[in-house]
Amino acid sequence: MTTPVPPAAGDAPPGPAGPIDPLSRPLAVGGLQLGRRLFMAPMAGITTSAFRRSVRRWGAGLVFTEMISAYGIHYGNRRTLGYFVHGEDEHPLGFQLFGADADVLADAAGRAVAAGADLVDLNMACPVRKVVKTGAGAALLADPHRAAAITAAVVAAVEDAAPGRGVPVTVKIRSGLREGDGLGLGVAPRLVAAGAAAVCIHPRSAAQLYRGRADHSVTFALAAGSPVPVIASGDVDGREAALRLLDGGAAAVMLARGAVGAPWLFAQVLGADEPAAAEKLAEVRRFATEVLEMLGTRAVGHLRQFWPRFRRRGALDRALALQLMQARDEAGVRSLLGL
Ligand SMILES: Cc1cc2nc3c(=O)[nH]c(=O)nc-3n(C[C@H](O)[C@H](O)[C@H](O)COP(=O)(O)O)c2cc1C
Repeated sequence: MTTPVPPAAGDAPPGPAGPIDPLSRPLAVGGLQLGRRLFMAPMAGITTSAFRRSVRRWGAGLVFTEMISAYGIHYGNRRTLGYFVHGEDEHPLGFQLFGADADVLADAAGRAVAAGADLVDLNMACPVRKVVKTGAGAALLADPHRAAAITAAVVAAVEDAAPGRGVPVTVKIRSGLREGDGLGLGVAPRLVAAGAAAVCIHPRSAAQLYRGRADHSVTFALAAGSPVPVIASGDVDGREAALRLLDGGAAAVMLARGAVGAPWLFAQVLGADEPAAAEKLAEVRRFATEVLEMLGTRAVGHLRQFWPRFRRRGALDRALALQLMQARDEAGVRSLLGL
């Protein structure tokens, strides 16, 4: 039996690969002490509370909410505020916000900290048209003045909300809007000058969306000149890829698509063996139980995106995955998984 790696809080645990494992060296991001350099990236529609708990069980050193609309928070939208709900076992937890207005983002960030955020991350990476056309997400890469003003306003609001705690404000960027435009490398120093405690880079252009390969030569160029930690996101699919990014100068790395349907990838990247099918199934059952508790009737639709992925990662056999896809209600999912 492989035992999941225990979640990292403030201290560096020994970990399966020994105390000097580069991924288990502590990292300070502003005033936040992290015990591991392997994080779960924010993912809309994926990184719910149940998902975050799942990856924490396998060793994620920091988890994020999905991107949350600053406007929704500011105007008290009930559904948006639902994204604030989290369990005590999810810390350290970053809240990721998106928006285009400094005052609105500052207000939302203060509320996020009051609601329990250990870190506030600003999304300047989202390439989705609906977001970009409002001036938010990746659009901010082309508006460095506004991007810096937003960062400064949010840093001030977070300090006001939690004086002296050093709650960090970080920013997630892309390499640019179009391949080779260099906008990411151009804006990053301005974000740092405005108070960003770390920069996370997903080095695909916004135009690339999620296609092709991430160009981590951009990550390394950013890290070489950066006074703050640079966190790398993109194509981390195993231990080798993670170590290569740390070697190149990244301070920490994030798993994203690779961990969807395979939360145990965290333990594997940290040096553990692949868990047996029975252990994977036990994790699927636990995750599904929490999703059902959290989302009720909406859980059935939400879980459908996970079943094929769990099947591909060896946690479900084909017949069971097919039956789960066809389950029509909570009772159906429960009976198929024996919950
Ligand atoms: C379905 C989906 C949703 C995502 N949602 C977010 C998000 O809310 N905020 C964000 O900063 N990045 C988001 N991303 C980007 C990921 O955080 C990550 O940077 C990207 O997928 C690259 O990593 P990968 O190649 O390992 O998947 C999303 C990606 C996907 C595929």
